[in-house]
Amino acid sequence: MSVPASRLRGRAVVVTAGGTREPIDPVRFLGNRSSGLMGTAMAVEAADRGARVTLVTTVAVPGDARIHTVTVETAEEMDTAVRGALESSAILVMAAAVADYRAAEVAPRKLKKRRSLVLQLVPTVDILHSLARDPLRAQLFVVGFAAETHDLEPNALRKLEEKQLDLVVLNDVSRAGIGMGSEDNEVTIFDAAGAVTRISRRPKRLVAAALLDIVEARLVTPAEPR
Ligand code: CTP
Repeated sequence: MSVPASRLRGRAVVVTAGGTREPIDPVRFLGNRSSGLMGTAMAVEAADRGARVTLVTTVAVPGDARIHTVTVETAEEMDTAVRGALESSAILVMAAAVADYRAAEVAPRKLKKRRSLVLQLVPTVDILHSLARDPLRAQLFVVGFAAETHDLEPNALRKLEEKQLDLVVLNDVSRAGIGMGSEDNEVTIFDAAGAVTRISRRPKRLVAAALLDIVEARLVTPAEPR
């Protein structure tokens, strides 16, 4: 019996990975604990299924000739790279931990030590929120992540609605051994129609496979021939 072809085969998929770094001066940045492992696992799993993958990432990834990799640092650079890649894409998976704030002004020279320092922060672009209001959105299947420490489900559902996602992937980052920086993950996936799928703890690559199974089941048109 032959295995049916993946519905991702021939489709263009954009995946983001890692935490953005927002510069303060030439040597310092605001960052977060994201390792990029979940996004990278999503990109490799999608490539294994025959998708044409663009990975927009802040972390170095092992070379994989099947994956078009764009390396970025800041939220603004990630936004530009994602938008460029989306023109011809069908699916966006925003696994990156995008910083919510950046320094209002980046010092051109290294800041010297002093008794105290006040940094003024301003919001970064919210990539998914702005995409939700863009004509590009209509042709896309969009997956967002919600990394939460409290009020897990209400926060995830709020993101699903406010960012007009097709799926939101919730993970509890207050727990050791899963999520940010860990090899494993355990997630709950919500869709816009109210369906809930729990994926028990397993290596991120297997979480990626379970998540892409759910994406595939929801794609309305058949995969393009290669
Ligand atoms: N995201 C984004 N642009 C941002 C911040 C987040 O596109 N500036 C995306 C993330 O990649 C993720 C989803 O939005 O897929 C949720 O990110 P998260 O940081 O959990 O949510 P925020 O909207 O930043 O809300 P909060 O920080 O209040 O939890």
